[in-house]
Formats: sequence, C-alpha cells, structure tokens
Amino acid sequence: MKKVITYGTYDLLHQGHINLLKRAKALGDYLIVGVTNDNFDRDRGKLNVRNNVLERVEAVKATGLADQIIIEDYIGQKIDDIQKYDVDIFAIGSDWEGKFDYLNEFCQVVYLPRTEGISSTMLRDSSQETLKVGIVGCGRVAQRFPSEASVVSGIKVQAAYDTDIAASDSFAQKFTDITPCASLDELYGLVDAVYIATPHLAHYGNIKSALQAKKHVLCETPMVLNGEEAKELYKLAESQGVILMEANKTAHCPAFNHLVVLIKSGLIGEVVDIEASLSQLLDKKGREFDAAQAGGAMFEQGSYPLLPILKLMGIQYESLELFSRLENDVDIYTKGVLRYPKAVCSFKVGLGVKTEGDLVISGTKGYAYVPAPWWKTDYFELRYEDQNNNKKFFYKWDGFGLRYEVQEFVRCIFNHRFSSARLRRRESIQMAFIMQQFNEKVNFHEI
Ligand code: CTP
Repeated sequence: MKKVITYGTYDLLHQGHINLLKRAKALGDYLIVGVTNDNFDRDRGKLNVRNNVLERVEAVKATGLADQIIIEDYIGQKIDDIQKYDVDIFAIGSDWEGKFDYLNEFCQVVYLPRTEGISSTMLRDSSQETLKVGIVGCGRVAQRFPSEASVVSGIKVQAAYDTDIAASDSFAQKFTDITPCASLDELYGLVDAVYIATPHLAHYGNIKSALQAKKHVLCETPMVLNGEEAKELYKLAESQGVILMEANKTAHCPAFNHLVVLIKSGLIGEVVDIEASLSQLLDKKGREFDAAQAGGAMFEQGSYPLLPILKLMGIQYESLELFSRLENDVDIYTKGVLRYPKAVCSFKVGLGVKTEGDLVISGTKGYAYVPAPWWKTDYFELRYEDQNNNKKFFYKWDGFGLRYEVQEFVRCIFNHRFSSARLRRRESIQMAFIMQQFNEKVNFHEI
C-alpha cells in the first residue's frame, strides 16, 4: 500500500483545497491529512484563521478524500509523522516548491500544481467587512498599535486624534494611510471602533463619548480608577450594542492563557498562595510621577499582577490591605495583600523600587513558576516535589504583544460577545474598585 501525507490549515475550505486533496490521493492508496492546530497556527504568526481546528477537521472529513486526519501541533512533526505512519510520499501545493526538500531524506516529496485564483486569504478578505479603527491619544503607547493591528485580519487603522493636533498630524505622517482628525466627531465619522491610549484620567470621558457615538472601544489599562464608573461604562456599552474591552495585554497572551487553564485543571492542586510582581525604574520627571495625572506604581502597573490573582482566585476576597512608599503624593512602591477564605495572595509594583518581577502560584500538589518578566512571558514551569515530574512550557510572544488583544477585540465584535473569557467584565470592574480603594486610601498603610 502506498501512503501519502499532506498538511494544511484548510481554513474556509475551498475548491483549491479539494483539488489538492484529490491530486494527493491519486498519488497512492491511502491519504493522511494533517490539519494545523489553532495554537500551532498562532505560534507561527497566523492570527487570521477563521475556523477553529474542529471546524477545519470536519470540513476536510466532509470531502470524503482523507483516509485519516491528524493534527499538526509542532515544528518538526512532519518528520515524526512520516516515520510513524510509514509514509511513502509527502505531497504539498506548488506554492511551497523547494521548501520541503529536506523531507526527501525520509520519503518522496511531490509538489502538486496549485489551483489559481483562490485561497483562504482571499475568502477571508472578501467575506468579512473590515472594522475601521480610530486611535484616540497618539502618544508612546499608541505608536505600537498600527503594526500590531496589521497582522490581525478584519481590522484597519483608519484615523487618529489627539488633543494636540501636531501629535495626530505627526502620527499620520509616520503611519501612512491614517487620517489625522481635528476633532473626536470627525474621527467617529470615519470609524466603527476606537483604541483609547490617552492618559489615565481622560479614559472615562473618552470611553463615554465613544460609546455614546455607538463606537466599540478598546481602552488601555487601567481602564478607569473607580468601580462605579467601570460598571456604568460596561452597562452603557451593552445598551448601545457595542463592545467595551480593557486592553490588558497579559490577559490575552497565549502563555498566560494556557497557564490559567492548566492551573484551573488542577495540575498544581488547590491554589493557596499567589505572588506576582512587576517593577520598572523610570525617570522621576515623567508623567508617571505626577500625582495630578494619576501617576504612581499602582495605577501604572497594578492591573497586571492583579490579573492572575482575580482570574485564578475570583473577585470575592475577604480583605485587601495596601502598603505604599510615597514620594510627592505618588507611590513609588505598593504591596497589596488579598485574603481569600482559603488562600492568601500578594502583589508588588514599583516605579522607584526594583523587585524580582516573577509570578509564583503555589498549590497543594506543586507550584507554577513564571520568571520575570512574567507579564509578557513566553515560558513557564510547573514544579513538583519529585523533580522528575517538572514540566517546562514554551510559547511565542510576537511583536509588542498587543496583537492578541486586538484579535480578541475583533472576535468579540464580530461574534457580538460583550464579555471576553480572557478578561471578564466583572474582573475589569473589580480592578477598578481596587484602584478606587487605593485612591481613597482605604485599608492603606504608608511605609
Ligand atoms: N492549495 C492549493 N490551491 C489553492 C490554495 C491552497 O493547492 N488555491 C493547497 C496548498 O498548497 C496546500 C493545501 O492546499 O497544499 C492547504 O493550504 P492552506 O495553506 O490551508 O490554504 P491557502 O488557501 O493557501 O491558505 P492561506 O491563504 O491562509 O495561505
């Protein structure tokens, strides 16, 4: 029996795929089709795939051409598969000509003619309306947005606005194809959604104005510094039929998401303690040290270490004590201790104090260790008493890491989902209540 193997994503299955599968099948007696796993596609930078792996496997199965379907999970798997399944021929479309010659060592490699004029990319582009996004606030953070949005399908950065007209003009000069706007109303006229990257204290007004204009909103973290305001804004978004999302990049990053599901699946037992830390020593002349602009470590960095705590332990803690070192009314260091019924968690943030920026989650069976900088991690370990059971996990963190939240924002909009599982509305609201507690100095101790 002659065995043939071929691989692909098979997103939005089309005639080109069917022709390729027929040609591959005709080369032998038994056809194995490898379909890429969602994580594998994401890791190789393919963030635009529309169908999930189950839908894509079903589509390939429905062609009736595959004798066996397998999932492609990692680089190098093709060699393993060829040996494991005793494959005689590796077949792939001619767009890959030459790229798989290295497999000749293991079996015959055949490049099959590709069907002209059709591809998943073309179908994705034509079947989906493009979401036009406007940037509000053209400072340092916003500079990262256009390149990150460009790798996500279904979104285009259309316009930019800043209270300082010169800033929006220079932004538009730097990123061609972006229209500078002289007012928010002008921007709203050009876009379906906004990305807000203004200073913290402007967020509430910016979000409310955009929601009232029925624009979807992705707002930089911390979204607002008051719990009631956060509640009001999420309610307003839903009543206006638009999505409001807090842009916490860690919440959407692949490694962090996998860590959360592993721990929720009980791999380290019951979680009893979480310690999360984040610090960055900055020039004290910057706006981060200006009390009038809501500067300080807690507002600047607090939402990142609060994320693993609220995601894994929930929002129903019994108490939260805050300890800060203040300089000119701004915290250069804050430590928070949250007491839960059967656990205790703490976090540390610093703009003027350096900490080891790692994350340790301790459980009854083992612990998770994520080295600094854990909040943009591509690696973590699960560790146990018996070190033979330790396991390391590796991922990819591409670019500035905003692409993952942009992708989720687009997904929520197209699927009309008001709350993302990655950062629930209630978690975002709780973060705002914690910022409020800090602001009002409740259970607060100066050190
Ligand atoms: N293929 C083909 N003819 C096409 C499109 C794809 O023969 N018009 C082949 C590819 O060469 C590959 C297989 O189908 O062997 C699966 O390709 P895949 O990458 O899933 O499809 P594309 O349509 O090329 O996807 P994309 O646009 O996302 O790259």
